[in-house]
Amino acid sequence: MAKAKTIYACQNCGAQSPRWLGRCPDCGKWNTYAEETPAAVNTRSPVPELSKDPIPIPDIDGDSGTHVATGIEELDRVLGSGYVPGSVTLLGGDPGIGKSTILLQALGKIARTGKTVLYISGEESAAQIKLRGDRMNVEEKKLLVVTENNLERIIEHTKKAKPDVVVIDSIQTMFTSDIPSSPGTISQVRESAGKFLQFAKATGTAGFLVGHVTKDGAIAGPKVLEHLVDTVLYFEGERGHPFRILRTVKNRFGSTNEIGVFEMTGKGLMEVKDPSGIFLAERQASSTGSAVVASLEGSRPVLLELQALVSSSGFSNPRRNAIGIDSGRMSLLIAVLEKKVGLELRDQDVFLNVAGGMKIVEPASDLGVVAAIHSSFHNRSLDHETIFIGEVGLTGEVRAVQGVDVRLKEAEKMGFTRAVIPKASLKSKSGAKIDTHGVAHVEDLLKVL
Ligand code: TYD
Ligand code: MG
Repeated sequence: MAKAKTIYACQNCGAQSPRWLGRCPDCGKWNTYAEETPAAVNTRSPVPELSKDPIPIPDIDGDSGTHVATGIEELDRVLGSGYVPGSVTLLGGDPGIGKSTILLQALGKIARTGKTVLYISGEESAAQIKLRGDRMNVEEKKLLVVTENNLERIIEHTKKAKPDVVVIDSIQTMFTSDIPSSPGTISQVRESAGKFLQFAKATGTAGFLVGHVTKDGAIAGPKVLEHLVDTVLYFEGERGHPFRILRTVKNRFGSTNEIGVFEMTGKGLMEVKDPSGIFLAERQASSTGSAVVASLEGSRPVLLELQALVSSSGFSNPRRNAIGIDSGRMSLLIAVLEKKVGLELRDQDVFLNVAGGMKIVEPASDLGVVAAIHSSFHNRSLDHETIFIGEVGLTGEVRAVQGVDVRLKEAEKMGFTRAVIPKASLKSKSGAKIDTHGVAHVEDLLKVL
């Protein structure tokens, strides 16, 4: 028999090559190539028969997108009001962040409504899963557990149990007998997920795949699954903080950029219905360098406390450190403060932190960053009941942001009495009764502080 042909595949991005390469030409990572055997290509029927005739779009059955609530509201929100039968969702996140926990809790809730659900684990023993379930009071008869790594046997189990929802924890531990590569390699992950996807679609089973993320932030393996699956969720959180954010990255059945907020407790993950309240809970009155901003996460405004610390540096290169916010963005705002309003930050260390372990990705928090740095530099605290909304451009201009109205309403709800917002956004505020100051330039901001 001829020797089976092998290829080399990058374990980071999935690129392939007939030879081993030290550095992947596609993603630029070093030492990521591993030898693999590609899946056998089906050569029996090169041109498959026509499956179905094309049909006019109004005649297509439209009930394939109906959502079923899991009973965990924060999870339902990111899924788009629940899971969709026949769809597959990828849940990515760092090891230990709580992926297995949230899915076991969700299965428990679904089983309580009388549906059969199946939890397949390739990582933990059944006893370990039971122990975890006990902590969270998950003891439903219709929640079935099986420990298995082989995809063909998983599909057999699923055919027998006929569950409404299946969880595979994790996709990196699964393998299909079709290809000889070891579990966790790119080809195994892709092939196993692809097979499971076909099965889920054909039977109308809703599937959740757990995928671990590697240290550098890229999902190893599962990154290549993002285009295959219907929905991609990421679980985020800082070590040492109990808060966890569930974020939608892709959703074929709902909007993206929604978030769900959870708190990890001794009894599993609890929903946080009022994130602003939680993130502002430990704010101290009259502390310098603290500013509150309103970040828009999907359709949901969340108020966050930004803390800046400016202190004279002992180094010729002052330190600039940002946690929870892009450090490039911080450097840019520091430069604007130096150049446009003459703040002497050249010999100052600047540290910036988003309290509570949240991440801010929106430029709408720029005005808050500027206010916090200014406050810490001058050792003057900002007004405790003022909130800052606005993007700052390179010339120091304050630019309009979207969703000013919902942000203001949230601020009002949380007891803020005054808001500094972009001048251009003044006309778009309609409902909120909070006192607003429009600013067009960073200089105007410093005048109202
Ligand atoms: P887990 O769901 O196993 O993480 P993942 O599947 O993403 O790797 O979460 C494990 C962590 O959560 C672990 O460090 C313990 C903690 N935990 C609690 O604090 N309370 C609980 O009730 C449970 C079940 C876990
Ligand atoms: Mg786990």
